[in-house]
Amino acid sequence: HFVPVIMSGGVGSRLWPVSRETHPKPFMSLPDGQNLIQKTFLRASGLDGVSEVLTVTNRELFFKTEDEYRKVGSEHTPLRYVLEPFGRNTSAAVAAAALQLNEAYGPDTLMLVLAADHLIQNETAFSAAVNKAKEIASQGWLVTFGIEPQYPETGFGYIEADKANTLASGYRVARFVEKPSLETAKGYLEAGRYYWNSGMFCFPVGLVIEELREHAPDVMETVAATLAASRSSQGEAYQCLTLDPEQFIDVPDISIDYALMERSSKVAVVPCDIGWSDIGSWNAMSELTEADANGNRCEGEVLVHEARNNYVYSPERLTALVGIEDLLVVDTPDAVLIAHKDHAQDVKQIVKQLKANE
Ligand code: GDD
Ligand code: MG
Repeated sequence: HFVPVIMSGGVGSRLWPVSRETHPKPFMSLPDGQNLIQKTFLRASGLDGVSEVLTVTNRELFFKTEDEYRKVGSEHTPLRYVLEPFGRNTSAAVAAAALQLNEAYGPDTLMLVLAADHLIQNETAFSAAVNKAKEIASQGWLVTFGIEPQYPETGFGYIEADKANTLASGYRVARFVEKPSLETAKGYLEAGRYYWNSGMFCFPVGLVIEELREHAPDVMETVAATLAASRSSQGEAYQCLTLDPEQFIDVPDISIDYALMERSSKVAVVPCDIGWSDIGSWNAMSELTEADANGNRCEGEVLVHEARNNYVYSPERLTALVGIEDLLVVDTPDAVLIAHKDHAQDVKQIVKQLKANE
């Protein structure tokens, strides 16, 4: 069996004010009208030999998620959910999904972990990479998808390929380093053996359970206890399992990258060139809109006079730019963002301020 697992949990605070707690990044519409979670669902359900699509998300987002899937035609794909009362990071989400799949289809099941908020522009290359990953995973590896790094990003994981150790169209991983310092990231870029971690993984269910039990036993124990309590209160036919908050609260908040990928010695990488972007900021978002002769990229009705290299997202109202450069302008009914492109990463600071004032 082969099951794509869609993880949808982060808020995407660098894409405020369009991405909000109740309308997080996976639900943001792209210029072509589809949102990221719909794109992820289509990409997942279109792969070969999919038994079902399992989504791990917050229980408040269940109906919204099902709606979005339905709009792009989910009636032919069996859907299952693990619903969280609150986030406990990605190691908990992966552990819960793995235990559910182990129960349903057994330890040889391959799970393909996907982030709900990434963009992949080359679907053909993506499905080819997934097929390679499945082949390597079924030989007993935790498989990552490596992206050729473009600049020393500190918000990603880095994968050092052991090029002397080839596996069917991939490599054994010498080292996995989550979110290194800028200095370290620069060194990795120069060294050349490193890839960015895309945040997608292909795991044999039995192996990921074993490895989590070894490297993150506290996560595994607390998630297993949560599942046991949740299953017994919700009966056996759990197409949609809501996690018991009283148990789930005890699960450590740690990402799969720190909890498992940095610690396991059974990690492999499939290098791939799939047009991947995690749309981490408004700068990345702006790249999806074509620039005019002056370098302005505009979504919505925009008038321009002597303004260059700006990005405008304003689907509802007319926006005018006069004599400005290199700005991001994002208009929504109740909030406007105006930021310099060099500070696109700092938009999350505003969300922090809003939270502090709540
Ligand atoms: N269900 C659920 N519950 N999903 C979650 C949770 C949670 O508690 N926390 C995060 N997610 C989802 C996010 O919505 C996203 O789709 C995915 O899991 C990854 O989480 P992020 O919070 O976006 O991780 P990151 O961007 O800091 O880092 C990861 O992705 C990078 C690439 O974008 C890591 O895997 C890095 O190594 C990687 O380079
Ligand atoms: Mg992310």
